[in-house]
Amino acid sequence: MTIIFPQWTNKVPAALAAGLLLGGVAVVFVVWYWFSPRHTDVGYAPSQPVLYSHKQHAGLFGIDCRYCHWNVEEHAHAGVPPTETCMGCHQHVLPESTLLPVLREKWQTGDPVPWIKVHMLPDYAYFHHGVHVKAGIGCASCHGRIDQMEVVRQAEPLNMGWCLECHRAPENHLRPYDQVTNMEYVPNPEEGRLIRALGPMNSAELAAARGKPLPVNPAIQPPTHCSACHR
Ligand code: HEC
Ligand code: HEC
Ligand code: HEC
Ligand code: HEC
Ligand code: HEC
Repeated sequence: MTIIFPQWTNKVPAALAAGLLLGGVAVVFVVWYWFSPRHTDVGYAPSQPVLYSHKQHAGLFGIDCRYCHWNVEEHAHAGVPPTETCMGCHQHVLPESTLLPVLREKWQTGDPVPWIKVHMLPDYAYFHHGVHVKAGIGCASCHGRIDQMEVVRQAEPLNMGWCLECHRAPENHLRPYDQVTNMEYVPNPEEGRLIRALGPMNSAELAAARGKPLPVNPAIQPPTHCSACHR
């Protein structure tokens, strides 16, 4: 009898099934990963365990971003404030508020409030807040009008193309560094070109810099080589 199907083909259906299953898992993973809110991101606005409002605190009351995100000028991560920062006021302001039981409970136990992270880069991409803020990139350039948000929502894609667009033409976004947390300030490319050429400066220095001769090589040169962001 001629052998049409050699012995090994017995395993084909199982292998096929396993292959399909793995392929299926891979497709599901890719779809889940790329299309989950964490990844396509713009507009991602998870509801938080405490109804804390930036619109109220940063907008209406005008509390500076750095009062709560004090790491942002020096460190890679801006960080979210500990319960103590809130209780500095809320031991006295609205101590009976029905919106604050989680905060009071965490204050008593000493555990952190389980805030849900909104912005998140993959581990293989390196980002440092301090470098950007010191150079004169405002929070609003990357996070939008946080002072108008009841619930924080991701305003920009934070993908590689977005990073590179600014790295290639930072003059469109640079502002005097004393204005980095001013949400109403609109960066202007003419000022941006001066800052880019001469280096980070405050508003007074910027006013004095007008009309100065500019060096050939700009002082601010954001990197575009792969290893700057993939270390
Ligand atoms: C009174 C304290 C306080 C002030 C002032 C404040 N924030 Fe926040 N911020 C928080 C807390 C708490 C969270 C975490 C809960 C949330 O996402 O709403 C947060 C979250 C954020 C996030 C999202 C973090 C993430 O998970 O990705 C951004 C961006 C942010 N703040 C930017 C700003 C900016 C810009 C300002 C100034 C205009 C500012 N914050 C002022 C307390 C503050
Ligand atoms: C500088 C003082 C100050 C700080 C710091 C502060 N708050 Fe407030 N918060 C206020 C004031 C003032 C109000 C509004 C009081 C009113 O409506 O009469 C308020 C209102 C609130 C409300 C609304 C409560 C209600 O019943 O309407 C919540 C929720 C809240 N804050 C959460 C937080 C959280 C969480 C933090 C820390 C990340 C924080 N606050 C930090 C001053 C502060
Ligand atoms: C050049 C763009 C850029 C600027 C400018 C910027 N951020 Fe961010 N921010 C990001 C990115 C990207 C992330 C996500 C970082 C990650 O996942 O590692 C982030 C995350 C955050 C977070 C979440 C906690 C953390 O550190 O991961 C907070 C809070 C925050 N930013 C606040 C601020 C504040 C306040 C300012 C202004 C003083 C600011 N950011 C300026 C891009 C920026
Ligand atoms: C709105 C403009 C802007 C955006 C958006 C932006 N950057 Fe930058 N980046 C800058 C500027 C300006 C510098 C500072 C260059 C200097 O000081 O010469 C910089 C510097 C850097 C550096 C060099 C840090 C060092 O240690 O020298 C890295 C890494 C970097 N950015 C990563 C990122 C990543 C990752 C993203 C996207 C998630 C991003 N940047 C988005 C403007 C931007
Ligand atoms: C200014 C910072 C920056 C530079 C420079 C940069 N990348 Fe990226 N890259 C990122 C960020 C941020 C992500 C994450 C994107 C996301 O979450 O969607 C990324 C993602 C990637 C990915 C994953 C696929 C994707 O598109 O999301 C690859 C592959 C990659 N980068 C390769 C490179 C190569 C090759 C270079 C040099 C030619 C380079 N990168 C330069 C910031 C950078």
